[in-house]
This record gives sequence, C-alpha cells and structure tokens, in this order.
Amino acid sequence: MQTNNNCIVIFGASGDLTHRKLIPALYNLFKFGRLNQFSVLGVARSELNDDTFREKMREALLETEETTPETLDAFCSHLYYQAVNTSDAADYGKLVPRLEELHTKYQTNGNTLYYMSTPPSLYGVIPECLAAHGLNTEEDGWKRIIVEKPFGYDEKTAQELDVQIHRFFEEHQIYRIDHYLGKETVQNLLVLRFSNGLFEPLWNRNYIDYVEITGAEAIGVEERGGYYDGSGAMRDMFQNHLLQVLAMVAMEPPAIINANSMRDEVAKVMHSLRPLTQDDVEHNLVLGQYTAAEIDGKEVKGYLQEKGVPSNSRTETFMALRCEIENWRWAGVPFYVRTGKRLPARVTEIVIHFKTTPHPVFSQNAPENKLIIRIQPDEAISMRFGLKKPGAGFEAKEVSMDFRYADLADEQVLTAYERLLLDAMKGDATLFARTDAVHAAWKFVQPILDYKEAGGRIYEYEAGTWGPIAAEKLIAKSGRVWRKPSGKMKKKV
Ligand code: BG6
Repeated sequence: MQTNNNCIVIFGASGDLTHRKLIPALYNLFKFGRLNQFSVLGVARSELNDDTFREKMREALLETEETTPETLDAFCSHLYYQAVNTSDAADYGKLVPRLEELHTKYQTNGNTLYYMSTPPSLYGVIPECLAAHGLNTEEDGWKRIIVEKPFGYDEKTAQELDVQIHRFFEEHQIYRIDHYLGKETVQNLLVLRFSNGLFEPLWNRNYIDYVEITGAEAIGVEERGGYYDGSGAMRDMFQNHLLQVLAMVAMEPPAIINANSMRDEVAKVMHSLRPLTQDDVEHNLVLGQYTAAEIDGKEVKGYLQEKGVPSNSRTETFMALRCEIENWRWAGVPFYVRTGKRLPARVTEIVIHFKTTPHPVFSQNAPENKLIIRIQPDEAISMRFGLKKPGAGFEAKEVSMDFRYADLADEQVLTAYERLLLDAMKGDATLFARTDAVHAAWKFVQPILDYKEAGGRIYEYEAGTWGPIAAEKLIAKSGRVWRKPSGKMKKKV
C-alpha cells in the first residue's frame, strides 16, 4: 500500500542537517496538510529527551520558518527522541519498544523511514545495527532508508558501501538523496524537453554546438572547512549534483515516467560519458582553490585560511571540465561543466548553445541562439536569438524571450527536501539516485581523483572571480567563452 503514514527515524538528530533542512521540511509538509498520521523519532548519542529535543527543534523552526504557535505546538507534539550509541548494535535495542509505541499511537502500521543524516562512517553501520533487531524487515510495514551524500569517497568505497547496505536492505528500500533532483526547476527540465514537440528535433548533435552547465556559489566553505577539505568541489558538487543535472539535459525520453524507466535513462547517460584519458585530465580539466581578496570592501579569507582547513591543503574549491557523451544524440558535442565556491554569484544554470546558420547572410556577428535554463536563483528560461536592429541596414541584435517561474501564479512549490521526503514516504524513488548510476558517475570521475592524488595542478583564483584563468583558456581553445551569469535574469526583453 502506498501511504505516507509512517514514523520517520532521523539518525544524526542533533546535527546541522536535521535542524536546518529536515525538520523545517517536515514542518512545512505538516503545515500544508501533506502529513497525516506520522511521528518523528530523533536518534543521536546526545542525552536529550522528548521535551528537550522538541525545544531545540522549536527554536530552529522559529529562526527559519514562518510559524504560528498553534501549528508549531501541533507539529512538535509529533517529535520524539531516543538517545542511542549509534556504533553499538546492542544499544539499537532501545528503538524496538520506542517504535512499537509510536506505531501504535499513530497507527502507522510499522511503516518506517530511516534517514541517515550522520557522518558517512556510520552509513554501513546503521543498517547492520537495525538488522540486528529485525528493524529492516518489511513483514510489518515498509522499511526504507535514506542515505545522504556522499555515497562513498571514490569508486571503490562507493562499491563497498553499497555492498554493506545491500546486506540488510534491498535496492527498493534504499533512497539515495541528491537534493538537486528535488529542485522544481531541475524537474522542469524534463517537462520542457519531453512535453514540447518544439525542442526534441533540435536537441541533438545536429543543432547543438555545445552545452554549458554552471553551479556557482558566492559563499566560501563557511563553518564546514573540516568536511569540505576531505571532499572538494569534485566530490561535493560535480560527481553528484552536476552530473545528475547533465543527465537530465542529455537523457533520452523515458518510455513512461516511473522510477525505473527514468533511472534507466539516467544510468545510460552516465555509462555513455566518454572515459577521461590522461590527456583529458591534463588538458580538459581545471582545478582551482580560492585565495584571499577584498569583495565589496570586505576582506574575504582564502581557502587555506578557513577554519578546519590545513594550511597546506590541496583540496579544490573550483573545477571545470570539458567532457563528451558517446552516443548517437550527443557524439562530438562538448559539455563544459564548472562549479566553484567564492565565485561572483550564486547561480546554477544550463546554457544550450545552438549552432549558427550555415552561412552568415546579414552580418558576420549574428547573435548565437541560446536557451538558458536558470535552475536557481530567480528560476527562469530564456531563449536568446537575433532580430533586426531598428533602422537602416540588416544588423542583428540579440533579444530574448523570457519565462520566469515566479510568474506562475501562487502555486505552492515544495522545496527540494520537502519534495524528496514526501516522495520517499510515498515510495516513489524516481528522483533518487540508483546504484548503477552512482557507480557509473564514480567510475567516470575516478581519473580526476587519481590525477589529483598524483599531484595534478591546482590553480589559484582570487575569491570573487570566475575561477582560474586556466578555465577561460580551457573553453577558449575552441573559440568559446563561458557565460558570466549574474544572480539575476534580465527582467525585460
Ligand atoms: C551541498 C554541498 O550538497 O550542496 C554544499 O555539500 C553546497 O557545499 C550545496 O553548498 C549547494 O546546494 P544549493 O541547493 O544551495 O545549490
């Protein structure tokens, strides 16, 4: 039975993600009437109890969400807490009576959603400890487990993690969350492509010159230096979020929209990425690290001065890559992907650059045709093309036709975590990463990890710039330039 009546068990309940993302997402789902019979059981080592956990979550919600005292009280009454030593299997026994009590109280038929919001070192441990008490079996209601990224650290550890989790949970029970897939505008990409006859005939190597994908952030690593230093832009953003976005741009239409056919198509793209050679990592890849600078009159630290970052760190905070997809649709079309922290703006966008006319009739500098898909912020789609400049002659000028998401009435749009939590409760895995795609993505990026490991070059770039000059040179080799998006789309044509 598909039901979102369940108990949500959050491991890592005293952590950052729980109060910043998960509890606010559950609160909003509750407020919008999307949750009926449910309870949330926070689990962590800290010696909290139901009351102190509720108090902490209440404070967090008051800080970030629009609340009313009634809704807040009503929501918090669904929150519970159980202290567990999460690396000690015997201690998980405490969860058995707790879950029984909550399932009975809320009539949730044993349906349980486990959320691993813990350090990744526990991802293999928690499933085993749950299984030691039979808390993974689906005889009495469904049991699903959400795994936060990173799913492994490289190809080998990702495989090991998979084996560990699969010993106790079957693939249909495992939900690997990539919050980019929960973003409304990422999903809109599929609707744009597959519900319009207009784009499909053009969406291939015959008409597309190249594709640019940018995931830029203006912030630095903030308080997460310790975590980030073990990760870097490649593991933090590229291997997961940006490759998933690339897959949405490049995938074939699924036969139907369901979890398996969608994820089959995503996996096919990941498998079709042309393997990176030594030449690619040396010439089609740029890794960078930000240095101190003054931005808007304020001193901004360099990466090496950030809290938790070793002063000799070689972790990249920027990466740009030219890659290709080896299939009939895309053969020969370069995909330029870049991501970085401390860039001039926070913006995630895809630019489809169409080929120019075969012969320039009116002017040598006719504007390029581009479709710009702005994922965030200021979600929008903009079609750029040339029209005649008023006046004498036939000089062309770039104009744009813009659609802005904000113009779509007052529809209540779910945030990524709201959407994905709800989907997991409903048993819809369409927007969750499947094991084969995750492995193919790791396999693809492994040469980058090896290159870095072998002392590959990390360029410096000043905070507040668009990354190292080498990244400009990378795209300039083919006579192209990166778009330099601002945080805002143009308002008017
Ligand atoms: C997270 C990364 O997965 O995604 C962060 O760990 C990054 O480093 C964040 O800042 C970006 O997400 P969004 O939704 O703000 O683009």
